[in-house]
Amino acid sequence: MEEKKIAVIPGDGIGIDVTAEAVKVLDTVCEVGGFRLIHDEFDFGAERYLATGVSMPEGTYELFQKEYDAIYIGALGDPRVPDMAHARDILLGTRFVLDLFANHRPIQALHDRLCPLKGRGRDDINFVVFRENTEGLYVGMGGIFKKGTPDEVAIQEDINTRKGVERIIEYAFNFAKRAGHTKVTMSDKSNALRFGHDIWQRVFAEVSERYPGIEANHLYVDALALQMIKRPEQFQVIVTCNMFGDIVTDLGAMLQGGLGMAASGNINPEGISMFEPVHGSAPKYAGKNVANPFGAILSAQMMLDHLGFHEPASWIERAVVLCIENEETPQELDGNLGTREVGDAVCRRIRELGG
Ligand code: IPM
Ligand code: MN
Repeated sequence: MEEKKIAVIPGDGIGIDVTAEAVKVLDTVCEVGGFRLIHDEFDFGAERYLATGVSMPEGTYELFQKEYDAIYIGALGDPRVPDMAHARDILLGTRFVLDLFANHRPIQALHDRLCPLKGRGRDDINFVVFRENTEGLYVGMGGIFKKGTPDEVAIQEDINTRKGVERIIEYAFNFAKRAGHTKVTMSDKSNALRFGHDIWQRVFAEVSERYPGIEANHLYVDALALQMIKRPEQFQVIVTCNMFGDIVTDLGAMLQGGLGMAASGNINPEGISMFEPVHGSAPKYAGKNVANPFGAILSAQMMLDHLGFHEPASWIERAVVLCIENEETPQELDGNLGTREVGDAVCRRIRELGG
């Protein structure tokens, strides 16, 4: 029996609630599909950080790389850690240290009803965003001078390397080619960021030359935000920097029906990758059985697909679509099921599909 090993980090807040449903769905798919996913849980999060002062014990990254085929993470963030120090270590640290440079975020409305735009539906909202995931404004380089005084200066450096920009743009083109897409849109702010985003312009022009069958399209990020609402059907593949990718994928999540619908994969094509719903830990809703687990469940689907279990992964997506069609949905989608009941409904649908 084929077997893979997953490291699961439920994290904080509703991350814990939705991860339980994603794991339940994975167990069901294994049972129906006749393969094995061993999942080990790691209690990294605010609770452990507050108790021990350590967000992730030394050697964890190496352990993940050596022992596991993928990492699954819920969400991080807790009001008791206002500077998010542990989240930076656990989430951003893993992205950086394991070099998970391609943040793959599909923007897909699974049902007409979920799209909030007038006159638009599931056929119109179907594209993917590749967010650069290891540099840009996120690297934490900079500092504060004369803190707390009227003369205070705060500097946050924006890092754009030839290697980093080239590999994410190439990744987007390769994905487009594999998936049979005909257009890649690169989004930057090179009209204002004359150095940091000039390199995006030049590298995009260079890389696109190597993909003659694919149209190379460009939009400044402000125009991209507008066009995502005005004419979302024009997009197939979008590639952008870390910061802009963070922002436009929240906008994209709303086009899919809400933040709780959005899934993502943090990909290192040559190593271990990490999968997570796009939403945060929403402490207000934690433990109340109200969070939308679909984004978490769809992130588990992306993980299975990445691990090569294509058919079982497709059952998950079809099961989620069936649940939405039959109004087996959580509050976020105006339904009346709790987090656990949505997970149960997805499992039931998977048994019907696979059995
Ligand atoms: C995301 C999140 C994170 C990010 C936060 C929690 C640091 O918003 O994955 O989109 O900005 O990358
Ligand atoms: Mn975000």
